[in-house]
Amino acid sequence: MCGIVSFTGKRDAVSVLMGGLARLEYRGYDSAGISLIQDGELATLRRKGKVAELQGAIDESKPQGTTGIGHTRWATHGVPSEENAHPHRDCSGKIAVVHNGIIENHAQLHEKLEQTGHRFTSRTDTEVVAHLIEQEFEAAAQNDTAQTDTSQTNTSQTDTALLAEAVRRAITQLSGSFALAVIHADYPDTIIVSRNDSPLALGSCADGAIAASDIPALIEHTRDVIYLNDRDLAILHSNGDIECFDPAGIAYVPQQIHVEWTLEAAERGGHPDFMHKEIHEQPRVIRDTIAGRFDEKTKSILFEELPASAVDLREIERVCIVACGTSYHAGLIGKYHMEAWGRIPVDVEVASEFRYRDPIVTSKTLVIAISQSGETADTLEAVKLARRAGAYVLAITNTLGSRITLEANTVLYIKAELEISVAATKSFLAQVALLTLFALYLGQQRKTISAEFIAEAYNQMSEVPQAIEQVLADTSAIERCAAECVGAHTALFIGRGVGATTCYEGALKLKEISYLHAEAYSAGEIKHGPIALIEPAGLEDPSLQTPVISLALQSATYDKMVANIEEVLARGAKVIALATEGDERIAELTEHVMYVPAVAEHVSPLVASVPLQLFARFIALARGCDVDQPRNLAKSVTVE
Ligand code: M6R
Repeated sequence: MCGIVSFTGKRDAVSVLMGGLARLEYRGYDSAGISLIQDGELATLRRKGKVAELQGAIDESKPQGTTGIGHTRWATHGVPSEENAHPHRDCSGKIAVVHNGIIENHAQLHEKLEQTGHRFTSRTDTEVVAHLIEQEFEAAAQNDTAQTDTSQTNTSQTDTALLAEAVRRAITQLSGSFALAVIHADYPDTIIVSRNDSPLALGSCADGAIAASDIPALIEHTRDVIYLNDRDLAILHSNGDIECFDPAGIAYVPQQIHVEWTLEAAERGGHPDFMHKEIHEQPRVIRDTIAGRFDEKTKSILFEELPASAVDLREIERVCIVACGTSYHAGLIGKYHMEAWGRIPVDVEVASEFRYRDPIVTSKTLVIAISQSGETADTLEAVKLARRAGAYVLAITNTLGSRITLEANTVLYIKAELEISVAATKSFLAQVALLTLFALYLGQQRKTISAEFIAEAYNQMSEVPQAIEQVLADTSAIERCAAECVGAHTALFIGRGVGATTCYEGALKLKEISYLHAEAYSAGEIKHGPIALIEPAGLEDPSLQTPVISLALQSATYDKMVANIEEVLARGAKVIALATEGDERIAELTEHVMYVPAVAEHVSPLVASVPLQLFARFIALARGCDVDQPRNLAKSVTVE
């Protein structure tokens, strides 16, 4: 949540910062701002609203500078407003700070700083950091002067080191999470950055040095990135040099990681929005995610990242999946397959609950943490808890160098590439595909399924990309079904088995991008309460109708599902069905049908999710919503 970017170099910093902010906007879009060092002073512009608002202000006042910091905000402390927008400054107006995270002890620090004469202009937790650095800078400068006076030869600290030392001392007083970038008007060639529990990537480029919350802001400039450890600090110099220091202030040579993602991944590439682009990338994503994971000769699934020496899957007694949001839904589908094929109990829990109770986790538990971003605060804490309890933690993520990759024992990467739309689509399908493969692997290692079974299941998976392509080739029926629901206030999604979990994700997509309230239930449950919500389709006012989106693909429970559809129809519901191509029985029940090609039941969530994503998008567009940046949300939830 929140995106920060900073650049110092030999070129105009404004375009680098604004380009970076545009690419980081999915992290928050309540307000945006930049500070530049311009003629020995800070030039700061901030605006409530999206980055476009800030761009308007920049076009008018045309600030200039080669060193600057920028921020796009998802509000935690203080309402979205210009005064609460970052960068925040100290009393002298010489120091500016951008921050992503939450300073948990900001109230105590605020009080102390006010007592010593500091004056605050915002209600944010971040402003304390600017004042704290100011205080430490003054103290360090006085100390330095005293030392210079007493020993003319002992002036080892350069000016830059003085500022860095002030930031280092300030951050030792902070609790909570932060990624920070700091500039000082008297240091036109320097930026100081640090982080703790919030992401930050840095890199040198041809014309300077850059740091940002996430890779999309960097890849135009460099694909060799440095990730700092918690509470480490780095000095970015305008000649491109980057110096890194551990929390004790000891310099070290950082490791660089080469990022494969291309600039095209961060562009819409002719699509009307990122969600559209990402939905259409799904056949490729599935192909890449499953590629190289099956050995034709031995008919076995390969997970070379997970050697038997690391964890013996025959010995574990339970699997525990932790995740949030869409990743949690992927976990629910994973549970079906792992229990069915691996014959092992699997619990799936939202990380925000798991971390605050006393879960049963032992060295015989395999914990699987799923997070597209690898940054979700609750999932990271769940991982730490599991590690402390002695469990082996397997992380499934899309993001190289992310926090989860540092905390887990082993990492499995999905091959979704950069996902920018706040609503997860291709990452969900990639997670489900990987978990399905992993469930086969579990069964293989535990010898609970045969090689023939594995080969057939894998072959059925390889048919999925083509089936998705077929869905994407003609979306007119999905658009017509969506048009039937645009005016509704609430919708019900029902399904059975993996179809029910597919519905949970379908309902989440609809809620988050169209603001149409939706609930998903296992179809067998609706008679226990939710069926009371159904209002007849005949009502003139469409907002009073309750469309029932019914997932009725060919499956072991198909007949039961048809019976459930009959039940809601008997109560006058408007049924939007998702059925297997050629299914006449469903067509007799309702005229609103979205068809998908026939696929094996275990891969049906991969195919059925696609029309549900498009259905949500069509409704959102018809309701005038911004599908890529839904209100109140941010792509990565880095605060709990
Ligand atoms: O990055 P993560 O997978 O950990 O994110 C988890 C959720 O925040 C995320 O899936 C969220 O629910 C999406 N907005 C869903 O579209």
